[in-house]
Amino acid sequence: MANRPRVFVARIIPDDGLEPIRAACDVEVWPNELPPQRAELLRAIEGCDGVLTLLTDRVDDEFLDHAGPGLKVVSNFAVGFDNIDVPACTRRGVAVGNPPGVLTETTADLAFALLMAAARRLPEGDRYVRGGQWRTWGPMLLLGPDVHGSTLGIVGFGRIGQAVARRARGFGMRVLYHDLSRVDESIERELGATFLPLEEVLAQADFVSLHVNLSDETRGLIDTARLRRMKPSAIVVNTSRGPVVDSMALFEALRDGVIAGAALDVTDPEPLPSDHPLLTLENCLVVPHIASASRATRGKMAAMAAANLLAGIRGERLPTPVNPEVHG
Ligand code: GLV
Repeated sequence: MANRPRVFVARIIPDDGLEPIRAACDVEVWPNELPPQRAELLRAIEGCDGVLTLLTDRVDDEFLDHAGPGLKVVSNFAVGFDNIDVPACTRRGVAVGNPPGVLTETTADLAFALLMAAARRLPEGDRYVRGGQWRTWGPMLLLGPDVHGSTLGIVGFGRIGQAVARRARGFGMRVLYHDLSRVDESIERELGATFLPLEEVLAQADFVSLHVNLSDETRGLIDTARLRRMKPSAIVVNTSRGPVVDSMALFEALRDGVIAGAALDVTDPEPLPSDHPLLTLENCLVVPHIASASRATRGKMAAMAAANLLAGIRGERLPTPVNPEVHG
């Protein structure tokens, strides 16, 4: 059909998103598991009205130049949008959307799963059994800290940080948090969470869970000095963005017993090469950026990303915009 909007979708996403886009647009879907190389991406977006991006696709002036003046919308299939130069999009009147909210609980589930797995040393236990080392019940075997009754420090107390706090309450944990500002007192009361300066949260927590956006202010937030503020028994959980933690500082802290463990859903670099020093450590658990990876949530993310894309193409305000000022 003539004059259907042109759209590039940078990876195969669930049908909940692809079907409505296919029904309304001429679509090219990147068919491979690995993201398009930069040159392939720049070629694919030429002349597009809309692009559905993933967090592996960098959207900057070069991207926008290649897409051309017809580009109306970039819809990110990730709630974090540090891959997008939003001011550059806004300057050109390109709407940016993301799917906030739908992945909050699923991401909090994984943060808590990582916390528990690291505390109770589940990956080590699994390796132990598979390695044929399990010969008897051992009074001293694979001991770890209790989760219940411990102190959880949450850094970044937005939607996901608060959802982690709700889980912690069920485990009778003391919840401390830090963010740029305090949340409403009623939320603090409901979640039983206490605001403290960052250095205090780090010093008191048995578990530190990171839930900040990646920005110039949060890049390298967890560095050598801050790791040294933590207890030697502390476990760090990162489901935010890899560069929030200085990887080499974390490696040294884990190796030298400055802290006890780490559980990472996100890394820097990402993906983490299989010969990275962090992967030589027993006390570091790494999974491949799967915090939102439940079937239901990925379906909802796809539907929201499609809704943003299609609204942007029609020149309408996106249901969940990042730069709503584009549509006045
Ligand atoms: C995943 O990391 C996301 O930001 O949605």
